[in-house]
Amino acid sequence: MCGIVGIVGTGPVANRLHDALQRLEYRGYDSAGVATLEPDGTLVRRRAEGKLANLSARLEKDPLAGAIGIGHTRWATHGAPTEANAHPHMSASVAVVHNGIIENFAALRDELAATGYPARTETDTEIVTLSVTRELDRGATPGQAVAKVLPQLKGAFALAFLFRGFDDLLIAARQGSPLAIGHGRGEMFIGSDAFALAPFTAKITYLEEGDRAEIHRDGMTIFDVNGKPVDREQHLSAASALMVDKGNHRHFMSMEIDQQPEAVSHTLAHYLDMANNKVDLREQLPFDLAGPDRLTITACGTAFYAGLVAKYWFERYARLPVDVDVASEFRYREPPLEKGGVSLVISQSGETADTLAALRYARAAGQHVMAMVNVAESTIARESDVIFPTLCGPEIGVASTKAFTSQLAALGALVVAFGRARGHIKPRAEAKMVAALTGLPGALSEALKADGHIEAVARVLSRAGDVLYIGRGTAFPLALEGALKLKELSYIHAEAYPAGELKHGPIALIDEGMPVVVVATTDELMEKTISNMHEVAARGAKIILITDRQGAALAGNDVAEIIVVPRVDPFVAPIVNAVAVQLLAYHTAVHMGTDVDQPRNLAKSVTVE
Ligand code: M6R
Repeated sequence: MCGIVGIVGTGPVANRLHDALQRLEYRGYDSAGVATLEPDGTLVRRRAEGKLANLSARLEKDPLAGAIGIGHTRWATHGAPTEANAHPHMSASVAVVHNGIIENFAALRDELAATGYPARTETDTEIVTLSVTRELDRGATPGQAVAKVLPQLKGAFALAFLFRGFDDLLIAARQGSPLAIGHGRGEMFIGSDAFALAPFTAKITYLEEGDRAEIHRDGMTIFDVNGKPVDREQHLSAASALMVDKGNHRHFMSMEIDQQPEAVSHTLAHYLDMANNKVDLREQLPFDLAGPDRLTITACGTAFYAGLVAKYWFERYARLPVDVDVASEFRYREPPLEKGGVSLVISQSGETADTLAALRYARAAGQHVMAMVNVAESTIARESDVIFPTLCGPEIGVASTKAFTSQLAALGALVVAFGRARGHIKPRAEAKMVAALTGLPGALSEALKADGHIEAVARVLSRAGDVLYIGRGTAFPLALEGALKLKELSYIHAEAYPAGELKHGPIALIDEGMPVVVVATTDELMEKTISNMHEVAARGAKIILITDRQGAALAGNDVAEIIVVPRVDPFVAPIVNAVAVQLLAYHTAVHMGTDVDQPRNLAKSVTVE
């Protein structure tokens, strides 16, 4: 999603804005730009289509000297990813950067044109620039102009403004999309998140819904949605300490895949009392774990698949019925939710717009809202009653990997806690499940050893036009996750089905040589999945089987490739299988030469619906 930065500094800021934008690259973008107020009093911008390197070249050729400025990485929503549509959008009197969507931009555009302020680009952002310019032309101060325009804008967005003639003022506004303000020494900063600002300061204030901040070198004033000055808490962000580089890895994604044993181990350390083979939840819950008779889980993308695995677990082991839904459907379906019931949202970033809306829907229905997030300072974390953290460190690659396995590890611990409280998991069963979780870091390290073999297998996929993934039980959500990973990284069309569903239609897709990835590790369903596998093999499919040694022994001769993962308790098998589907997609993408860490059209943090 778009990234916003701003600096009210003491020397030239253009290069620092560019550096801060680099730290937002992981969110995904397709053009970038900066604007500064130059010493001669004019607003000047540099913009470029494509990667930040292009903007950097532009800045090298035509440097900017201003000590105050704003910057932006754009992920196109309205209008193509061209230089003309890139931010900042500017008139002679104001420059604007924007994240999110102005839903009523078409009506505002017509109204502005009718009063002599015609739009020149296809973007919704330009409407904000023109609206503020019109207020300034009518004699408003910058603060008055922004305050007048904000209530006219519908949608979820964050904005930053820079004004001609005001060399000590940036204005920031938040309505739906996150915005952080950084406090420096004689300098102040704006960033879409604390990571962007980590090299400058760890002192962060987050704007709340409807807030507008007037930011100067020596501090700021925040006004709430009613225009009243308000105090917002200052936090000490951990982002600087956590910011990482790729080390010796070719991509962030491969580094993050390799980090999984450690990521899962950190996460489990939070939830388990390993010495006593017990789950030990530190979180204070506003309800009794034995109380709820239903759990509603909402999330998007990979986090949704983690929720789907959790449904199988909660229902089987804790005997707790679970409704799990993609947040974008849930939020508009108007599902009836019981007052006093319990909802869980899952999100790596904690900023996904649809997941946040689902959380708010559940809260409005009077539910207790629990969130599983990786970014502790995120909006979803701040709006939840209970935060269940995943402790895997920042995930930079757009494709979620270590966050997924960490979510599953934490969800596994929650299942045990609920099952124990509800009387369905007795101490011996708890000890067995906790031992299975505790063994995960070792099993994940073992699974990573298949890397070289998977790289070779990925050549088969890199030549495919379509790939089918199948699995049963918790292997089905893993098949979905494998197909999603392959689609987003390699752009190869991939679908996933429950293996038992093939005969109801999808088997018609199979023709000679079509790769079918079968996820089938040892559990009570493995033999059934292996039979389904033979059915597609008999119709010419090229089988890539992900299984353990026992499954490999049952595979027979019609399997093209077997990726062997360690044998683990079936409870935690999806976590180990995740490594295989991740590596398969990763190496396929590398063979094909796609942009692994920032696949086309994708954003790390989807802050618009
Ligand atoms: O930050 P979140 O976990 O809420 O993100 C949800 C999805 O956008 C995310 O998992 C997405 O599907 C990934 N690109 C998958 O690899």
